[in-house]
Amino acid sequence: MILVTGGAGFIGANFVLDWLAVHDEPVITLDKLTYAGNVENLQTLQGDTRHTLVQGDIGDRDLVAKLLAQHQPRAVINFAAESHVDRSIHGPGDFIQTNIVGTFNLLEAVRGYWSGLPAEQKEAFRFLHVSTDEVYGSLTKDDPAFTESSHIEPNSPYSASKAASDHLVRAWHHTYGLPVLTTNCSNNYGPYHFPEKLIPLLIVNSLAGKPLPVYGDGQQIRDWLYVKDHCSAIRRVLEAGRLGEVYNVGGWNEKANIDIVHTVCALLDELRPRADGQPYKNQITYVTDRPGHDRRYAIDARKLESELGWKPAETFETGIRKTVQWYLDNPDWVSHVQSGAYRDWVQKQYA
Ligand code: NAD
Ligand code: DAU
Repeated sequence: MILVTGGAGFIGANFVLDWLAVHDEPVITLDKLTYAGNVENLQTLQGDTRHTLVQGDIGDRDLVAKLLAQHQPRAVINFAAESHVDRSIHGPGDFIQTNIVGTFNLLEAVRGYWSGLPAEQKEAFRFLHVSTDEVYGSLTKDDPAFTESSHIEPNSPYSASKAASDHLVRAWHHTYGLPVLTTNCSNNYGPYHFPEKLIPLLIVNSLAGKPLPVYGDGQQIRDWLYVKDHCSAIRRVLEAGRLGEVYNVGGWNEKANIDIVHTVCALLDELRPRADGQPYKNQITYVTDRPGHDRRYAIDARKLESELGWKPAETFETGIRKTVQWYLDNPDWVSHVQSGAYRDWVQKQYA
């Protein structure tokens, strides 16, 4: 079996769902269930004996050690993190605690477990750390895309904390021989994305008749990847990645934020036109820029493509259409997130 941390969040939940759709190998999900952890993301696995959810913190070394000893996973995939840049600007403390201290404690618990495994299991074991392109900093318009040897130059408390966690993972490999793999991915979008992030925020605000906030001039560039393509890349790296290596993950889909806003508005005009017949783009509102806002991210994913033969299945056009349609088809998920009702389960289960 495998242990997935942060598996009730956006990418982690997509990963667990996809994993169990293509494997029968069981999954233990360890998730603290912060505001970003939503058990409804895993609702379709209710009653599925291949999946177990445990509420807990990656920083709780005793709990992690106990889970590892009890379930004997062959791999740990670490998605658990504080992930929202704007929140990291308002309150960096949780980011330091989970992304740095939490990763340290997780690594130590995993090292203790791994070092006691019999030789064959020890050799087969993997720790895969899921990270971000934001650790590389910001590009100008004409810079080449980030490669795995680009400088690490994080600019926000979030990206600095992720860069620190990447360094810890690397050091645990070089110093202790822990069999690690690291992936650095570009911006994801797709089902179960929490509507604090740009694309889901645009969809839910459009439908609610609220403003569509565009930071600064809207010309910042992000490189977008459909979440299920990120999940397939992680599965491939886990299967065949070289130990201690870093793999960039991206779909060669650079877009300016304002173009994303117009694309989402146009799709909604087609799929769910406004009752008054006006276009959704009328809701666009330019707002104060994010402090220290990175101008451009772009991922060079050639190492993953050539070494491991990975390719994304979706183009931006197919992925964004599926995403908008998913939000239209799942109004209960949206309303529970908006009302906070998705947290009731946590209260009920863990009171
Ligand atoms: P998310 O915020 O949606 O989910 C994070 C999950 O981690 C939540 O379920 C939360 O409850 C859990 N969590 C937080 N602190 C925890 C702790 N101390 N112990 C256990 N669980 C904890 O984030 P996401 O967008 O799904 O991102 C997942 C990972 O992928 C993160 O490491 C992030 O840095 C990375 N990443 C995200 C993107 C993106 O575009 N969203 C891109 C590249 C990399
Ligand atoms: O690049 C990978 C990263 O992508 C991940 O590591 C992060 O976890 C993830 O949150 C994401 O970070 P961003 O800051 O790029 O994503 P966000 O959706 O917050 O913002 C995308 C862009 O849109 C960014 O340039 C800021 C802008 N934006 C965002 C919001 C929420 C707006 O213009 N208006 C908004 O209301």
